[in-house]
Parts: sequence; C-alpha cells; structure tokens
Amino acid sequence: MRITILGRGAVGGGLAALWSAAGHTVTGLGRDGGDATGADVLVVAVPGDQVADALGRTTGIAGVPAIDATNVYGPRDPEHESNAHLVRSRTGGPVAKSFCANFASEYPRLATQTTPPGNLVAADPAIRTLVDRLNRDAGFDPIHVGGLGAARAIEDAGPLLIAIARNGTGPFFYRITPTAG
Ligand SMILES: NC(=O)c1ccc[n+]([C@@H]2O[C@H](COP(=O)([O-])OP(=O)(O)OC[C@H]3O[C@@H](n4cnc5c(N)ncnc54)[C@H](OP(=O)(O)O)[C@@H]3O)[C@@H](O)[C@H]2O)c1
Repeated sequence: MRITILGRGAVGGGLAALWSAAGHTVTGLGRDGGDATGADVLVVAVPGDQVADALGRTTGIAGVPAIDATNVYGPRDPEHESNAHLVRSRTGGPVAKSFCANFASEYPRLATQTTPPGNLVAADPAIRTLVDRLNRDAGFDPIHVGGLGAARAIEDAGPLLIAIARNGTGPFFYRITPTAG
C-alpha cells in the first residue's frame, strides 16, 4: 500500500517504521508540506490544532481515504464535531479515526506481544477494511467503536488514557476480552 503520513514525529515516524517493516511504501511529510497524489491512504499525525494547516500544505488529497490519528487538547474548531470530521471536510473521501488512543512510545514493544494490543477505531464503512489491515500490520487488534460519528468519543478518551498512565501504570497497552456467551 502507498501510505502518505502528515507528520514525522512520534506517531507519524513510528507508524512509518512499523508499516515499512510490513512491506508498505511510506512517505512522511512535515511542516513544509508536499504532494499525496497516488496515495492509497493519507494518515494525519500532526498536532490537533494543526490539522487544517497541514492539509492546506498538501496537494493531491481530494478523495483519498484518510486516517486521523490526532488528539485535541486545546480549543476545538466549533465547525467540526471532531478532527476526523475536519479531515473529511477537506479530503471528501472516507475517513477513520484511529491510532490516537495508544502511546507511540510503546510501538517498539508491539512486535513482542503474544496477543496484539487493542486500538480504537471509528470508521466510515468504505475505509473499514483498509484501517483494519493497517492496524494489524502495525501489530494492533482493531476495536471498532462505530462509524465516524464515534470519532469524537475516541478523541474525548485521550485525557482518560493519560490519567490512567499518570496514576500508576505509565504508558500501557489495552485489550478487550469478550465474555463467553
Ligand atoms: N505521542 C503520542 O504518544 C501520541 C499518541 C496518539 C496520538 N497522538 C497525537 O498524534 C499527533 C502527533 O503527535 P506526535 O507525538 O507524533 O507529535 P510530534 O512528535 O511533535 O510530531 C509532530 C509532527 O507534525 C508536524 N507538523 C506540525 N505542525 C505541522 C503543520 N502545520 N503542517 C504540517 N506538519 C506539521 C511536524 O513537522 P516537522 O517534522 O516539520 O517538525 C512533526 O513531524 C498529535 O495530534 C497527538 O496528539 C500522539
């Protein structure tokens, strides 16, 4: 898969390493922007308040399926329910929210997990297969929360995950275990 990632930091650079190791062709873009023409998927991994700016610096994004990995810690853009909705308003293609509810510092530990850790996903139906594959290729088990209408719930979970980490565990993985019928 040809993957263009906006952001080359902890998340963007970390996912690039995982996906490259899985055989994908990854292009990382930073503040200087670039062209996403021909990408099978666009991944947004910039600070939450820089999403519109980063997309504005990138050409060739129209209709490209996109995964929004951002968190929002400051004021929100009142025009958009979530950053994933902001992304969809700029790309016009299917969008998923994922890779925002895990700690990038732990990516190097994914390869040695005997059971893949969970990773929350909210996705338009047309991108669900793609986002599932990229979760598995990174070493995660996708946990579906719903359609893109559930993206805001995932964004709002960020402070909860950080509170758990700060109150004892440090950065962690999580897994959902269905109870037997
Ligand atoms: N760190 C985590 O554990 C974690 C986990 C889940 C989600 N997140 C979320 O993921 C996003 C990225 O976090 P991070 O920790 O990877 O950040 P980071 O290490 O600070 O990297 C940020 C990247 O965004 C780029 N960038 C900043 N402003 C930009 C702009 N206006 N246009 C284009 N590119 C821009 C930077 O470009 P340059 O390379 O040019 O400086 C850099 O490559 C944030 O929304 C964060 O909340 C983080």
